[in-house]
Amino acid sequence: MTDKSIWAHEDGLTFLNHGSFGATPRPVLEHQASLRAEMERDPIRFLVDELEQRLDTVRAFVAPRLGAPAEGLAFVPNPTFAVNSVLASIALSPGDEIVFTSHGYNACNNAVRRRAEQSGAVPVCVELPFPVASASAVTERLVSAFTERTRLLLVDHVTSPTGLVLPIEDIVREAHARGIDVLIDGAHAPGMLPLSIERLGVAWYTGAFHKWLCAPKGASFLYTREDKRGATRPIVTSHGANTTRTDRSRYLVEFDWTGTHDPTALLSVPAAIEAVEALHPDGIAGVMRDNRELALRGRDLLAERLEREPPCPDDMVGSLAALSLPAGPADPLRLALRRRHRIQVPVFAFRQAPERLVRVSAQRYNALDDYEHLARALELELAAELELALR
Ligand SMILES: Cc1ncc(COP(=O)(O)O)c(C=O)c1O
Repeated sequence: MTDKSIWAHEDGLTFLNHGSFGATPRPVLEHQASLRAEMERDPIRFLVDELEQRLDTVRAFVAPRLGAPAEGLAFVPNPTFAVNSVLASIALSPGDEIVFTSHGYNACNNAVRRRAEQSGAVPVCVELPFPVASASAVTERLVSAFTERTRLLLVDHVTSPTGLVLPIEDIVREAHARGIDVLIDGAHAPGMLPLSIERLGVAWYTGAFHKWLCAPKGASFLYTREDKRGATRPIVTSHGANTTRTDRSRYLVEFDWTGTHDPTALLSVPAAIEAVEALHPDGIAGVMRDNRELALRGRDLLAERLEREPPCPDDMVGSLAALSLPAGPADPLRLALRRRHRIQVPVFAFRQAPERLVRVSAQRYNALDDYEHLARALELELAAELELALR
């Protein structure tokens, strides 16, 4: 664990949900505040004359760390925006199929269903196993859903409710062997897993800077492979749509400006990455390694105390770990943990309610004691639920 004072969490709060919206070290928030002050001193200079150059500086900084060429990296506020943009950019005919998964992020799965509705395409939701015996079981399940009509596969690098690291290289190889384009939702991957995005060969990859790289909220990216850049456009149409510029790709011109917004979260990404690098003597590799180890130890402690089986092999765990709980209402339990025990942790309804999961995160401000505190609180709350049910 690192010095807690650099984090802005409320005193006494056990924060086990880094995964949802990340957390930003204070020095990075101060950096963002200074950028905001600079913007307010002359918004025209900042947003009209300088923004493009400032965004290019960020692009050049993140490109080698993501393993992607700078010119393929568009900035977006969040992965939902990126997924909607890609879906709106692809040509679909009635009967074409879009494959996605039951462990996908609900917002993105909704975007698939909506695009399918508009185009006459068929949304094919693949039920992934959980508990899952091996990573190859996921690949096999997906492959069995591919047909000659599959046009796109949307798949998470790290699944949202279940925190599984999927065997993305194998999945991509199988999809490409069948001529299927792949959009990877890697919202959780940057800062959790080493990335070589271009080497994956996929058409699109989106990820968040504001989760495991601890940037201020609203900073994400969409990588697009070169052959797809001409047709990939933001879901929001703005000035770039009729640009006559020849010095810059329309892809970048359009994504760089999708209407007035506060770009300081994005512009703080290099400061955030440097802050995360400084959290461990081995830099980000050390942060990722220690977070994974803590997530596994935390999960195993909970599993033992609650007498539940860990739902996946260790090689499918990064900095997030989910565990199924005895059936019951999800949100009341989450709120009870927050109100009565001062623990912030997600409890999700999964598949058919009342099935539910608890998902823990591990970031540098966490320690094994946090999971111990959660185990005790869950023992109490689950016992109270049982008592109520038996009354
Ligand atoms: C897998 C996955 N995709 C996308 C997102 C992005 O969510 P949003 O676009 O709402 O920030 C998340 C956030 O938790 C996620 O877990």
